[in-house]
Amino acid sequence: MSKKLLLKDAHVEGIRYFDTYRKQGGYDGLEKALKMTSEEIVEEVKASGLRGRGGAGFPTGLKWSFLAKPEGVPRYLVVNADESEPGTFKDRYLMEFLPHILIEGMIISSFALGANTAYIYIRGEYSWIPDILEEAIEEARNNGFLGKNILGTGFDCEIYVQRGAGAYICGEETALLESLEGKRGNPRLKPPFPAVKGLWESPTVVNNVETIAAVVPIINIGAAEYAKIGVGKSTGTKLISACGNINKPGVYEIDMTITVEEFIYSDEYCGGIPNGKKLKACIPGGSSVPILPANLMLKTINGEPRLMNYESLADGGFATGTMMGSGGFEVLDEDQCIVEHTMTLARFYAHESCGQCTPCREGTPWMYKILKKINSGEGRMDDIDLLWDVQRKIEGNTICPLGDAAAWPVAAAIRHFRDEFEWHINNPELAQTQNYGLARY
Ligand code: NAI
Ligand code: SF4
Repeated sequence: MSKKLLLKDAHVEGIRYFDTYRKQGGYDGLEKALKMTSEEIVEEVKASGLRGRGGAGFPTGLKWSFLAKPEGVPRYLVVNADESEPGTFKDRYLMEFLPHILIEGMIISSFALGANTAYIYIRGEYSWIPDILEEAIEEARNNGFLGKNILGTGFDCEIYVQRGAGAYICGEETALLESLEGKRGNPRLKPPFPAVKGLWESPTVVNNVETIAAVVPIINIGAAEYAKIGVGKSTGTKLISACGNINKPGVYEIDMTITVEEFIYSDEYCGGIPNGKKLKACIPGGSSVPILPANLMLKTINGEPRLMNYESLADGGFATGTMMGSGGFEVLDEDQCIVEHTMTLARFYAHESCGQCTPCREGTPWMYKILKKINSGEGRMDDIDLLWDVQRKIEGNTICPLGDAAAWPVAAAIRHFRDEFEWHINNPELAQTQNYGLARY
């Protein structure tokens, strides 16, 4: 059984509310943190090995230590709750059921960073959650944990919730900052990174919801204990949102030593694949990470069991590995059609491109058109090469990672499932009427 840090009290009735959260030990971490210096907290987060849980896995303590501290300039903490990656819904779960762990983590983090103002930027489609967060903020304030002179320490902190308007690109940290400033959410060129020039040109730390929530257990149990959980550079626990062809979709907290096989088949997690179907492929980290066929998903190219962590999932690079990403874990059974699935993702990225860079603006709809053509049985063999070429020209040539995120799934689908593309081209009549996965019966 995996150790639970973030979701340990998720089953407790009323945990959404301050009184219950407090009875379970909530805000003890904040009381402890306020007796430490801000430098000590940053060192503790560094020593914990915590990596950004939004997708990139950047070391959190390192990011915090990059924060510029010019005299007389305010600093900000911004929580990225614009969780829009297809297949990713772990932050929604945290905010909906355990809002106080996020609020507590934000106050501790703001104290550590010397920020007196913090924002939660939440995706517009999570329309019911801002009220939950605002209620938690109000409860924290009424109990002296937020506002002026918190617990008599002289530290002031305010938290504001800002709703997005439904654009995926606003989850990219600099587009998010633009949007927060009231402008169109276009990504900025980096560097400068937000840690140097962020919100209203002030030093800003942008962290994912789960990352900031994880600061609470790190302070409570100490960095050394936290770092003992997991393996290698994958310390602590990770929330995984599991979906697709599994018996038990949902949000699970794992320690990053379990195998992919255990995650998919054990009753503690996904509970296996319905109707005894075979595993065909997984996309383990949200739609942007490469799809892997079952054999490579369960075992690395060296025959080692693949583990649910940053290093093991990436083992083999993109040739035979993938990425941990945001932890949005999608399972595809033998009945699924990879061409159709890839086409659906391509349509999503084409729709969500902000249009600033030519390779992404022109390339993403082009990939969608080619995939649609192949999927509907109207493709030619050289369309596969053209598709490969288009994705290659997007990758690495854009302002923000949306371009890469659109290119990688297409590249991986061709790399691992070329036979399915060829089947659509060689069997145009079948492809017009049937899904590849089912057509083989
Ligand atoms: P990134 O690798 O460019 O940056 C990671 C973080 O480290 C950023 O906050 C960046 O500012 C900071 N950083 C990197 N180098 C730095 C330096 N030298 N100085 C100061 N700060 C530095 O990745 P990014 O763009 O933040 O995230 C991309 C990831 O987001 C993808 O891997 C994807 O999986 C994930 N994603 C997650 C979504 C979700 O819904 N959770 C949605 C879309 C993408
Ligand atoms: Fe916009 Fe796409 Fe360029 Fe990102 S890669 S800035 S989404 S056009």
